[in-house]
Amino acid sequence: MIRTPVCDLLEIELPIALGGMGSVYSPDLVAAVSQAGGLGAMGCHNLSPEQIRAGTAAIRAGTDKPFALNFLVFDAKEECFAAALALRPPVMAFAWPRPDQDIQSFIDRAHAAGAKVTFMAGGVPEALKGAEAGADVIIAQGTEGGGHVGWQATMALVPMVVDAVAPLPVLAAGGIADGRGLAAALSLGADGVLLGTRFLASRESPLHPNFKQAIVDSDGHDTFLTEIPDIAQGKVWPGAMSRAKRNRFIERWAGREWALRQRRAEAFAGVLAARKSGDTEEAPLSMGQDAGLIHDIPPAGEIVERIARQAHEILTQRLPRFVK
Ligand SMILES: Cc1cc2nc3c(=O)[nH]c(=O)nc-3n(C[C@H](O)[C@H](O)[C@H](O)COP(=O)(O)O)c2cc1C
Repeated sequence: MIRTPVCDLLEIELPIALGGMGSVYSPDLVAAVSQAGGLGAMGCHNLSPEQIRAGTAAIRAGTDKPFALNFLVFDAKEECFAAALALRPPVMAFAWPRPDQDIQSFIDRAHAAGAKVTFMAGGVPEALKGAEAGADVIIAQGTEGGGHVGWQATMALVPMVVDAVAPLPVLAAGGIADGRGLAAALSLGADGVLLGTRFLASRESPLHPNFKQAIVDSDGHDTFLTEIPDIAQGKVWPGAMSRAKRNRFIERWAGREWALRQRRAEAFAGVLAARKSGDTEEAPLSMGQDAGLIHDIPPAGEIVERIARQAHEILTQRLPRFVK
């Protein structure tokens, strides 16, 4: 059993969290991670208030354990945020404010609704901003991760953030897919881990089976930091690239982003069709370098259990052998 102070704070059994993923709607996945003792999170980025209410009800039907509702601060709509708070979620998970944006009111309102607050940062200044605004947990997200990431690697970033925000607990994210990653994160001073890509290749993940298989097939060397998925979708992020699989769609537009802007509607229609038909070459697939560590598509609960078991074995059997 691996238990760290963040488990007491968030009232979870294992220090393993699912990253909120706004493009991946699956209350079943969220509930499965929480039910296994971790912290599931529902990305609310693309959801209407009604969908947030329905998704949260579905999570609660699947588990009575804590879960998080995740918001991208730069794009949070008031009616969605208010709808989420009214549901009194155990945890509110924030990420990606604009650099000039006030995050205090988001955190204060979440606390007033009875939620604990996590705040994701890709660098020390951002982590300090979250800590100073009263976040309860900081997620230090390294550039190896899937989706929108910063520039610092997890190995260097996590201990920097741990030092900067102490005594606040930190979860490490980016490039972690197994118990070795959890054991490493604990050694770096983190209290646990948060994972995205590993759970995309789970049974409950709503991705088309071909996209799950593309993660399994990846050797981890085929990801690319790019603005192309956002340009295609017509989204302007506050200074972020996203890590995606380097496929035909990305290669077609790399270095020709201006041309993609010009033909955005046509290109995006193609993306939607490819996503539906499972054409992994013609739709962006956000995934981290840890895709190279993912070899199967098990139930999410099994992923949580495996990570905890492997980390336990490393900490109790492998590492003690090195201490004389
Ligand atoms: C498909 C995808 C969508 C994501 N969407 C969000 C999001 O809406 N909100 C958020 O806070 N993080 C989002 N993330 C980032 C994850 O929360 C997490 O930080 C990241 O996946 C960790 O790296 P890993 O993929 O190597 O595990 C997303 C990641 C992926 C792969």
